[in-house]
This record gives sequence, C-alpha cells and structure tokens, in this order.
Amino acid sequence: MDKVSRVVLAYSGGLDTSVAIKWLQERCGAEVITVTVDVGQQDDFKAIEEKAWKLKVLNHYTIDAKEEFARDYVFRAVKANALYEDKYPLSAALSRPLISSKLVEVAHKEGADAVAHGCTGKGNDQLRFEITIKALDPSLKVLAPIRDWGMSREEEIEYAKRHGIPISTVSKKYSIDQNLWGRSIECGPLEDPATPPPEDAFEWTVAPEKAPNEPQTVEIRFESGVPVKLNGVSLLPHELLVKLNDIAGKHGVGRIDHMEDRIVGFKSREVYECPAAVTLIEAHRDLEKLVLNRHELSFKKLADTMWANLVYAGLWADPLREELDVFIDKVNEHVSGTVKVKLYKGNAMVIARQSPYSTYDYEVATYEAVSTFDQSLAKGFVELWGFPTVLSSKLRFRRESEGC
Ligand code: ARG
Repeated sequence: MDKVSRVVLAYSGGLDTSVAIKWLQERCGAEVITVTVDVGQQDDFKAIEEKAWKLKVLNHYTIDAKEEFARDYVFRAVKANALYEDKYPLSAALSRPLISSKLVEVAHKEGADAVAHGCTGKGNDQLRFEITIKALDPSLKVLAPIRDWGMSREEEIEYAKRHGIPISTVSKKYSIDQNLWGRSIECGPLEDPATPPPEDAFEWTVAPEKAPNEPQTVEIRFESGVPVKLNGVSLLPHELLVKLNDIAGKHGVGRIDHMEDRIVGFKSREVYECPAAVTLIEAHRDLEKLVLNRHELSFKKLADTMWANLVYAGLWADPLREELDVFIDKVNEHVSGTVKVKLYKGNAMVIARQSPYSTYDYEVATYEAVSTFDQSLAKGFVELWGFPTVLSSKLRFRRESEGC
C-alpha cells in the first residue's frame, strides 16, 4: 500500500466510497477529505455531507459545477456531435475530467499528497479519473481503493457494519450514474443483452408507446454551435439541459440500448436515457448540414469520431482533444440559427431549419424555371466525373473480348 498522509476522495455517499473513507483512514493512516461534485445528479447533497462528517473526515466539499459542466464539457460535446460508437452521448465520460479537476484543486488547497476515486477495475471511469488527475498534477498519488482492496459486496457490508458506517437497507436493483447529460443504468437484468430492459430501469423517459398522442415541436436556437434558446426563451446552459430533458423525456425520446466496447477490452450491454442529448445532437447535426459545405462536413465527421473516442477512452487531457476543439470551434463559428424538432413517441425529428449563414441557395436548387443553375454545364461535368469509372469498364470489356 502506498504511503500517503492526506487524501482527497471523490465521494458519492454510497456504500463503496463510504467504506473507502474508513479504509483509507485505517489501512493507510491517512486523513481523508471528501469532495462531492454536483453535475446535476439530483442527489441529496446535505445528507451526503452529513454522512461524510459522521465518518470523521477532515473536511468536506460540495461543489456546484453544473454550469461549468454544461458550458465547458457538454456544449463541447454538442459541437462535436459526440456519440461513442454512434450511440452513447458520453454522459458519464464527460463528467469525469471535470470531477478530476475539482479533486486536484481541492488537493492543492488542502495540501493533500493523494487523490482517490471509487472506481472498480472493470470500467472506463478509472481511466478517466487517473489519466486526468495525473495530467493535471503528476506529483499526486492516485488511489483506487475499491479496485485494489479486493472486497466482495458482502465483505463491504460486513466491514461497514463493523465500523458503524450507515448502510441503506433498500437493495438497489441497478447501478446508476446520472448528470445533466444523461442517465446510465447498469447491472442486474440488464447484463443479459438478449433480454429487453425492464420498464423500471427508466426514470427520465416514458415508454414511447405511453407517450402523448399529440406531438410537440421545440425550437432550438444555436449560436456558434451551442444552444442558447429553447422555444424563444434564453436559458443558461444547465437550465436549458434540465428543461429539454424534461420535455423530450415526456415524449419517450432518448432511450438508448446498445452493445458497447469498453476500453478495458470487453463488451458490455449499456442502457441510457439521454433525452436532451439525443434531441440537441440531432438538431445541431442538421444545422451543420445547412451551413457547412460538403468538404467541411466530411472532414468534420472524422474529427467528431476521434473526439468521441478520445473522451470515451479517458483522454480528455490529451493535446489532440484540445487541438480538435480548435478545429471544431472554427467550423462552428457560423453554425447559428434555429432548428425545429418534432418530439413524438420516442422520436426527435428535425422538421425545419434556418440560418443567416445557410449555404443552401433556393435560386440554384429550385426545380422551378427561375433556377439560376446552368444545366448546360452538367453535360460535360457528367462526362468528366464519370470518366474513370466508364474507362475502367471499357478496358475490362476489351480485355474480356481479347480473352485475357
Ligand atoms: N458505460 C458508460 C461509460 O463507460 C457508463 C458508465 C457509467 N458509470 C458508472 N460508474 N456506472 O461511460
């Protein structure tokens, strides 16, 4: 066991991290400072703090980072249309680098020599915490007590009882991680990919078949790639996310169920509900298609995929992520305008878009006689464009007729 004297622990108030407090105090003889970062998970932060004090921590911090999370992490993901493996909006993945930066800040303030997180060895979160913390301050030790102590759940409960750690009596069916950008639901019946998720796994979304029969249209205004207004009302980033999660969730939008390739090497079946994320990414992607030309769009797709892969894989701190953001910001400079999205029984369908920077030209595109597009140019263009394809074909026919 590493020798450490003062540890800053990312604290959720759950069994794992509560046991971790005692374990770090007992086994490492360390003073423990707990940090709970509010990224919109809707927990009882007062109760979490009280529990920490009960466990004799040296200090406790509850940090409201909702605005920072929405503005500096989630909105970057919107600009990058970030969906890992085309599905997962990175809700948990985006929060980890922010939480890590808060842990490091507190460690500096409190003169701590180590930081600890409550991840197991099976997930991606350990990468996200450890790599970001090390990148921000390589001199800090990073401890992962839950991964490294090898206690089973029963042993943890036993340990908690022995040390007077309050444990919840309701046994939880699912393991939940949630924030402004979405809710991930793991464990229990979800571990069998052949079985549909039970309805009780979902809290933010209604089943699409139970959604209202009347569709609802939301109008989203974007400025330089980020949403600033919902139905004509200016909202702060985190307010906009809360509101849209609510509206779209009521229409059953945002349920995601897919097979995901974890960085540690195995596949897992993942279930999420991310109503705002699904709606905003759909809308933003559509607005980009109105504003950007086809070269920009095709290259951006590569940048977007790389961005999502890096963030998923715990490499928020990699210089490439920042460099991609410079490109993504530049491309989004004129991605401003409004998009109308119809929410209906689990679907978020873009039905209209508008921008002063649109590169769509009615006078060129129209099938009406007024079109300014000179069709006579098309004749030669078609011939030249198809030249290599037609030539390959001609040469093949010639070889075949010559019997070679
Ligand atoms: N599979 C997702 C990811 O890797 C969700 C992780 C949720 N984390 C959790 N501790 N339950 O980002």
